[in-house]
Amino acid sequence: MKSLRFTLLGLLIPFISNAQNATQLNIKPADKQIISKHIYGHFAEHLGRCIYDGFWVDENSTIPNKGRIRLDIVEALKKIKIPNLRWPGGCFADEYHWRDGIGLRSQRPKMVNTNWGGVTEDNSFGTHEFLELCEMLKTEPYIAGNVGSGTVEEMAKWVEYLNFDGVSPMATLRKQNGREKPWKVSFWGVGNESWGCGGNMTAQYYCDLYRRYATYARNYEGAPLKRIASGANAEDYNWTETCMKNIGTRMWGLTLHYYTLPTGNWKDKGSATAFDETQYFNTMKNCLRMDEIVAKHSAIMDKYDPSKKVALIVDEWGIWTNVEPGTNPGFLYQQNSLRDALIAATTLNIFNNHSDRVKMANLAQTINVLQALILTEKDKMLLTPTYHVFDLFQVHQDAKYLPIDFVSPDYVSGDKKIPALNVSASQDASGAIHISLVNLDPKNKIKLNTSLNGLSWKSITGQIITSKNVTDVNSFTDPNKVSISKFNGAKKEGSNLSVELPAQSVVVLELKQS
Ligand code: AHR
Repeated sequence: MKSLRFTLLGLLIPFISNAQNATQLNIKPADKQIISKHIYGHFAEHLGRCIYDGFWVDENSTIPNKGRIRLDIVEALKKIKIPNLRWPGGCFADEYHWRDGIGLRSQRPKMVNTNWGGVTEDNSFGTHEFLELCEMLKTEPYIAGNVGSGTVEEMAKWVEYLNFDGVSPMATLRKQNGREKPWKVSFWGVGNESWGCGGNMTAQYYCDLYRRYATYARNYEGAPLKRIASGANAEDYNWTETCMKNIGTRMWGLTLHYYTLPTGNWKDKGSATAFDETQYFNTMKNCLRMDEIVAKHSAIMDKYDPSKKVALIVDEWGIWTNVEPGTNPGFLYQQNSLRDALIAATTLNIFNNHSDRVKMANLAQTINVLQALILTEKDKMLLTPTYHVFDLFQVHQDAKYLPIDFVSPDYVSGDKKIPALNVSASQDASGAIHISLVNLDPKNKIKLNTSLNGLSWKSITGQIITSKNVTDVNSFTDPNKVSISKFNGAKKEGSNLSVELPAQSVVVLELKQS
């Protein structure tokens, strides 16, 4: 009898301790909040090999292309439904004079790209080429105008060239250059990093300039602009406060730039591929700061704009490491590991969870620069671990936001700790629920017990991104080392969901009505 009691207890203990160890997640039904698809936006600057040798190939290239735009890249980006593409910078935008990039290519003036490697820019990729690319990608253009070294007239005329459908000098010029109908560009950046490379301005001076430039960047018929002010660097809350006070609802959006630096030190940011657990931990800690930074800027915006008319636009984010050894330091070429995938997924979860205020974001940058989606080497290209995250997370685009409550287990490293788990969830138009889960802990799995509080569902499928080491990358010799595979660790238990989330993984679950 005694031994039977012990046997029964022995059988029960694993279940009791499983239930006790599991993290409880409560997902609540949707209210009105939508996760804007524009949170999943991208950025292509005239920097290093993003445009030239990225999107844009040589005139006589044998790489399949249409009008010099590389087709394998277009296909890959269409697959993840990129909603918008920011161009031409970045810092480059405030030295870019758009008229140098139109008309016959052979007659376009050349310039020095002073920000990025001092290389010669031949202006072969300009306004028409960019907008052709956007049409091929079926994505919305987001153009950053030049406030730093350009004039009010120059910006006003660019908008007229792009958007006016009548008789005017700029509309005529556009037609002479082969484009009859206006493009009707909507997202319009008034400068970039005006506190730094965009003119080293004070916040108050920028606000005054914004009001002037934005006045003459006109709304033409059928083409109202969404004017976007150049916002704060990371924790510069004074910049946001000044813009909200002085510009307010004269802007559609206000930007924020925050990059994750592994070491936190701009002079030696850390390697993209050679890092130990301490540096991995610190990188993730720095990545998670995005949540606090967004929350604090949002709180300031709430003070001036409680009805949330002005969007917070994180139009530069991602991990910034030292460049790959042997590459041009001005080209910002870095490899992309499983760590990058965990950063991308965590940051997108943060944005989803702040989607009441964050309406748009742009990862820096699309190809061969910083936290790229795609790397190229001559005719070869590969999809990075970060690309695969955008592939999995596209299910959240324009879906209804589902709030979640949970207390994360800790990821402990030495005497420090951070939350190991981050999550966001949404419900799409068909009623399917998508839950994106990230476990930052490189050693321990996380057990989850999830209540869906009345949300109905019948079947579950899942996909996962993980790999043996957080340092694993996709290379031209092993391009699929880190990719998406089927996830079998989620089960329906009554109306609840139980999940076993592997260490260092990104999982997206789909709960369907049928
Ligand atoms: O994305 C690279 C650079 O980072 C951008 O040009 C600039 O805006 C930022 O400082």
